[in-house]
Amino acid sequence: MEKEILFEHDILVIGGGLAGLRAAVEALKYGKDVAVLSKVHPLRSHSVAAQGGINAALGNTPDIGDDHWEDHAFDTVKGSDYLADQDAVEILCKKAPEAVIELEQMGTVFSRFANGKIAQRPFGGAGFPRTCYAADRTGHNLLHTLYEQSTSGDIKFYDEYFVTSLVEDNDRCLGCIALDIKEGKLKAFSGSVILATGGFGRIYNRSTNALINTGDGAYLAYEIGASLEDMEFIQFHPTTLYDSNILITEGARGEGGYLRDREGKRFMKEFAPEAMELAPRDIVARAIITVVEEGRGIEDEYVHLDLTHLGEEKIKERLPGIREIALDFAGVDPIEEPIPVQPGQHYSMGGVAVDTECQTEVAGLYAAGECACVSTHGANRLGGNSLLETVVFGKIAGRKAAEELDDKNAPESLFKSHREKDEKLIKSITTKDQGIVYSEILQQLKETMFQHFGVFRDGEEMRQGLDKIKQLQARYPEIYVQDTSLKFNQALVRSLELRYMLFISEALALGAIAREESRGSHYRKDFRNRRDDEFLKHTVLKKEKDSIKLEYSSVNLGQFEVKEREY
Ligand code: FUM
Repeated sequence: MEKEILFEHDILVIGGGLAGLRAAVEALKYGKDVAVLSKVHPLRSHSVAAQGGINAALGNTPDIGDDHWEDHAFDTVKGSDYLADQDAVEILCKKAPEAVIELEQMGTVFSRFANGKIAQRPFGGAGFPRTCYAADRTGHNLLHTLYEQSTSGDIKFYDEYFVTSLVEDNDRCLGCIALDIKEGKLKAFSGSVILATGGFGRIYNRSTNALINTGDGAYLAYEIGASLEDMEFIQFHPTTLYDSNILITEGARGEGGYLRDREGKRFMKEFAPEAMELAPRDIVARAIITVVEEGRGIEDEYVHLDLTHLGEEKIKERLPGIREIALDFAGVDPIEEPIPVQPGQHYSMGGVAVDTECQTEVAGLYAAGECACVSTHGANRLGGNSLLETVVFGKIAGRKAAEELDDKNAPESLFKSHREKDEKLIKSITTKDQGIVYSEILQQLKETMFQHFGVFRDGEEMRQGLDKIKQLQARYPEIYVQDTSLKFNQALVRSLELRYMLFISEALALGAIAREESRGSHYRKDFRNRRDDEFLKHTVLKKEKDSIKLEYSSVNLGQFEVKEREY
């Protein structure tokens, strides 16, 4: 008889992006047997799309003095609208310089100043030019660096594996069941689990996210008893290319780009008189939508990002990828014409609740990167802090999982029952002759999320949105695939992801409806002010039988006093 558990490792890292690879490389240093499961080849993970840079208080910019981790931490906490946990922010910002130098020593080709130091550019919400970059392809460079590091050791890669369940016993995570997409077979893996699956931006229309960002980690963790935190906080990046919503890096404004309305006026003066285009993203995104809604946009849809005054040399050297994107997807050369931009979903601040050592409430289960909520970003993340979080907390997760390893008994029968349950679900999708295809429900879900849980929100509209999500959930059992073969059936994988996305959308909606205030990216037209007395707290969602229980937990405050944000 074939063994039920086909693959046994000490540590299973789920997700092959920056956080996952950093965790894997670290765990390997502790002599552990590490495997990475990824539903795409690691080099196709969404980290590859990060453009503008990674923050660290290196203070490399000539002639403007020193930068300090405390200043980085202050900007991060203020940017988060004071919802970030200050102990987590302290770790992030203190460890940032060493994390960047470590990446450099691993081989990342950072851009340089003339004096040879790693170049740094200004970014939104930052009081200092603190964002280290590799032109406008920073994520690409970092991911290749870490992939090189992880293939030089003994890490085992399982590419094109989609995780369908985590296996838990007595509040301890023992491994997972995953669909081998190439073979179309479910397989059992034992080991402690580090989730590094990225965010869930694809529940939205108009997203900069890769199609793979479907909230897998959050769903899987919740199902076995971990909490989700602050799921309502969704970042809309102010500048995505009009219509295709490809990211146009904040680095373009960091290099001096202007936002202009149809009259050519720099409208940010009305919304953030000091910081202007480099206010935090929540503020700039709201400003753009307001300008367009007031009829001051172009074609009632977008505004202009003007780089023409930067000159050809700077654009070609610092923003070559942006120029290519504008040329290829909008037919616009930013050297000569402004780029049409509009806000688009970009980042999920919330995720699997973890402590500062990346541990969830379930023993043997860790999370790092965008799928986790430590919480360093609170209600609004600063640009450049996401790449930083992946490497700082990825490393911590790898170390912690390695240190905490114990001899756990993984009963074959438990894995078998999980596999059979997942098999039943897959059969229910692949054996119907007719039904609904996943894309029909997904399209409606994305429209619902964008319309009802977008940049501006309102209680009544959100309640209607939640009703729509529930109606879509009710239709899920009708899902079928037209091609019923099991090998490389991407329609089947999309159908399985959709189940996760429907749940994530409900969780987001519950948190957003309950939070009767405006804070960071969560802006309510019916509660326009921040209400610290009631809501200076994290939203926590837990599984209780078949429903989602909403609770709150306190924010870890610290050296930075809670104040109004002004930019
Ligand atoms: O605009 C950007 O380059 C995005 C950076 C980030 O999200 O950190």
